[in-house]
Amino acid sequence: MVKLTIDGRDVEVAEHTTILEAALAAGIRIPTLCYLKNLNEIGSCRVCVVEVEGIDQLVAACNNYVLDGMVVHTNSPSVRIARKVNVEFLLSQHDSECTSCVRSGNCSLQTLSNDLGIAQLPFDKHLAGEHWNLSFPLIRNNDKCIKCMRCIQVCDKVQATGVWDITNRAGHTMVNTVGGKPIEETGCSLCGQCITHCPVGALRERDDTEQVFDALGDPERICLVQIAPAVRTA
Ligand code: FES
Repeated sequence: MVKLTIDGRDVEVAEHTTILEAALAAGIRIPTLCYLKNLNEIGSCRVCVVEVEGIDQLVAACNNYVLDGMVVHTNSPSVRIARKVNVEFLLSQHDSECTSCVRSGNCSLQTLSNDLGIAQLPFDKHLAGEHWNLSFPLIRNNDKCIKCMRCIQVCDKVQATGVWDITNRAGHTMVNTVGGKPIEETGCSLCGQCITHCPVGALRERDDTEQVFDALGDPERICLVQIAPAVRTA
């Protein structure tokens, strides 16, 4: 067993427990976006950062293990500032038109932004501006994708379908179909797991209104689409 202190509380957990899980065991909630237990522990979103005494930089709680004698602060001023800036960076590449989003009210990024009191961004917006085949029953909107890679992992490791992949690097990183194939050529079985595990509104089911506009061949349908209710809870 490992003994440590988190926010002044003495905690005892098994070895190879992450800081995130140790905090949870002590009743302390650390926010997460990309984390999926045993599936996606890549530490990409950095909203779970915590301060560990004796370490110069903040560390991600979701993929760092506890050590004996560790003293952790999950809500210090530096943690709060870093967490807010990290979310602001995510928002700078995120279409924040929440009122027309299927996940509004059920979006982890929206909830976190509200919790952190983010009212306006200090950074310019850079959206992917991609077009998607709206005739396919699964819709991807990369203007909302936060590159958490949950969809990639769940499609690959749970469903063994491997539809999604990461492309490009740095500021141009995005999630796309493997090899950039049209979605209808990927073998997507429409299981819905990627939608279920998306923490935002980057993936959703095509709604009936879109089918109607498709049938009518209305070129303005994208603007006229009425948004269906939130699909699933991530
Ligand atoms: Fe830990 Fe995303 S939840 S880095």
